[in-house]
Amino acid sequence: MGTLTAEMKKLIDEQKLGFVATVCDDGTPNLSPKGTMLVLDDDHIIFGEIRSPNTVHNLERRPHMEINFVDPFARKGFRFKGAAIYMAAGTPEFESLHGRFEQWGDLAKTIRGIVKLKVEQALPLSSPAYDIGATEAELRRHWREYLLGLQAELESA
Ligand SMILES: Cc1cc2nc3c(=O)[nH]c(=O)nc-3n(C[C@H](O)[C@H](O)[C@H](O)COP(=O)(O)O)c2cc1C
Repeated sequence: MGTLTAEMKKLIDEQKLGFVATVCDDGTPNLSPKGTMLVLDDDHIIFGEIRSPNTVHNLERRPHMEINFVDPFARKGFRFKGAAIYMAAGTPEFESLHGRFEQWGDLAKTIRGIVKLKVEQALPLSSPAYDIGATEAELRRHWREYLLGLQAELESA
C-alpha cells in the first residue's frame, strides 16, 4: 500500500500550492512556495521547476525535502518528507511527465525541470484552534469571511 491516502491526494490536488524545504550547504533551511504541485502516484509528489535555483542546487547535493500543504480555510493540511530528485528538461523522465502540467497552460511551457519527492513520511497538520474546540465548519466560515474582507479591502485601496 502507498503512503499517500485519498484525503492527502485530494488536498494536494485542490490546493496545488506547497511550501518546499531543502537543506543549504551551510545546514540552514531553504523554504519556498511552489504552485505547480501534482500527485504522481501513491508514493510520489512532483512539481515544476520554473525558477527555483536554490532548491535545485540543494537537491543536487542533498536529496532531503519536506513539503507542507495547508487548506487556508480549514486551517489544516499535511506535511510530507522524503528524498527528492531533479529531472532536467530533455531527460526521458522529464519528457514523459511534462504533459501532466498542462492545466497550467502557457506557464507549463516555462518548466525547465521536474522535482519528484518520494514520500517516506506523511503527517497531518492542524491549527491549535482545533485544540480549544473550534470545528472545521466554524474555521472555514471565519477564514472565508476574513479573506474575502481582506481581498475587498485590497481591491478598494
Ligand atoms: C504562489 C507562488 C507559487 C510559485 N510556484 C512556483 C513553482 O511551481 N515552481 C517554481 O519553480 N517556482 C515557483 N514560485 C517561485 C519560487 O518560489 C521563487 O522563485 C523562489 O524565490 C525560488 O526559491 P528557491 O530557489 O529557494 O527554490 C512560486 C512563487 C509563489 C509566490
